[in-house]
Parts: sequence; structure tokens; C-alpha cells
Amino acid sequence: MTASVDPTTAPASASTATGPLIQIAGLKKRYVMGSEEVWALDGIDLTIEEGEYVAIMGPSGSGKSTFMNMLGCLDTPTSGTYLLNDSDVSTYSDDELAEIRNREIGFIFQTFNLLPRVDCLRNVELPLIYAGMKQSERRERAAEALRKVGLGDRMDHKPNELSGGQRQRVATARALVNTPSIILADEPTGNLDTETGNEIMRLFEQLHRQGNTLLVVTHEEDIAQHARRILRLRDGKLEHDTLVEHPTLEHETL
Ligand SMILES: Nc1ncnc2c1ncn2[C@@H]1O[C@H](COP(=O)(O)OP(=O)(O)OP(=O)(O)O)[C@@H](O)[C@H]1O
Ligand SMILES: [Mg+2]
Repeated sequence: MTASVDPTTAPASASTATGPLIQIAGLKKRYVMGSEEVWALDGIDLTIEEGEYVAIMGPSGSGKSTFMNMLGCLDTPTSGTYLLNDSDVSTYSDDELAEIRNREIGFIFQTFNLLPRVDCLRNVELPLIYAGMKQSERRERAAEALRKVGLGDRMDHKPNELSGGQRQRVATARALVNTPSIILADEPTGNLDTETGNEIMRLFEQLHRQGNTLLVVTHEEDIAQHARRILRLRDGKLEHDTLVEHPTLEHETL
């Protein structure tokens, strides 16, 4: 569904993005290992609107992590284009990619990637330190993000003083803290038991309802069924792109 915009009343700001959040065309990524070459991505075309909740599935080796790395501006394609907020990031230098990552992308990794020696508040503050924000503002923003994921009472705990689900929530707060355009999660429930996994899916549902754009890589069909759209990769190609008719809703609140 696309809304039509009346050009006589629409704001004339040149800096306002007009197209979809993500526009990908003919995206390819080749890896060369000795004499062998692998097309980890082999011609992907895709559009994702702001606020979508998308699951990315596919067998091992199908290109999911490679695709996430492209979407997250951690790597550039061999060919094809990637427009993020109307900017062609496929041509960016490493420094420009780092800059856009800081501003636009929130990552949630399977292994959380939390710093073990510092407390939750400090862990969540980290992206803001990179962004050069001053300390008092950083603290307030990090505390707010932790409250959002239900950890307002655990700010001074270190990661090893938390449960697996709580650690994943800290990682989620860190991904949210600089209000990114996209939240990317690679197997966010992979290391968690079922109940804790459900807790994370409730949190994602809440983030979706607040208007965040979520892309989640998962091997698990029942996790994917929480999303509103499922992309299925195979051999570096987008094999299926389907809408979830009756997404699983986690009703309990945090
Ligand atoms: N740095 C690399 N160098 C060479 N080949 C690579 C590299 N990274 C990935 N590949 C190859 O690209 C293909 C896609 O890998 P990718 O990690 O994206 O798969 P995946 O779908 O995430 O798999 P999994 O479910 O096992 O995590 C695989 O054939 C892999 O061997
Ligand atoms: Mg992977």
C-alpha cells in the first residue's frame, strides 16, 4: 500500500527521504578463495518500507549473513546498488560506511557482543561515545533505552550478572540507543531457551508497534512467523518473498 502525496501540500525539504527505506537492485557478492569463487549473493532485488518487520530465512550457506552485512553497511557488494534512505551506499568508502552505520543501523548479534567488564549502562552508552555525544546526554539516553527494554532496575549490573534473555535485552537497548533507521538481528534467539526467546519476540513486537524497522535472520520457522514478511534465500538468490497472513502475537507485556 502506498500513500499518494499531494505535491502542493507536501513539505519541499530536499533532505527528507521520499523513497522506501531500502531499495536493492541486482545485488551480488562474490568471494574468491584460492581458485574457487562463490557467489554468496547472486542478484537480489528488494524494496523494504520504513516500519516493516521482516524475517530472513534460508539454509546454511544461502547468504543470510552476507546479506545482513550488506544491509548493515559492514561490507559493500561486488555489483548492484543499495539505496538506504535514498543514498547509494554501495559506492561508499569504509569511512563513510562507518559513519552511516553509527547513524542508521542498530545491530543485535547472536552472541550479544557485550563488554564483560563494564555495567549495562556503559555497554548501552557505547554507540553514543562513538557518535561523540557528551556524557550527561549519553547517560540519559542509555538509561532511557534500558528502561524501554524493561531493565531500568539492572543498569549497574555487569553482563555476567544477568540471565541470557536480559543480556539479549541489553544488546537490544544498545541497538536502539542512537535511534537507528534499521534494527538488524542475526539469530537473536539462537542461544536462548524457548521462554527467553519468547521474551525477546515480545520485545521485538513492541519495537515494531513503535514504528521501528526490524530485519531478523532466523533458522526457526516459528520465530519467523512473528514477522509480517518473510524473505527466503537459497544459493544467494531471493527464492520467496511472502507476507505473513496471521503473525504470531506475543500478548504479555514485559
Ligand atoms: N569471508 C568469506 N570468504 C569466502 N567465502 C565466504 C565468506 N563468507 C561467506 N562465504 C561463503 O558465502 C556463502 C554464504 O555464506 P553466509 O555466511 O552468508 O551464509 P548463511 O546463510 O549466513 O549461513 P548460516 O546459516 O550457516 O549462518 C557460503 O557459501 C560461504 O561459504
Ligand atoms: Mg549466517
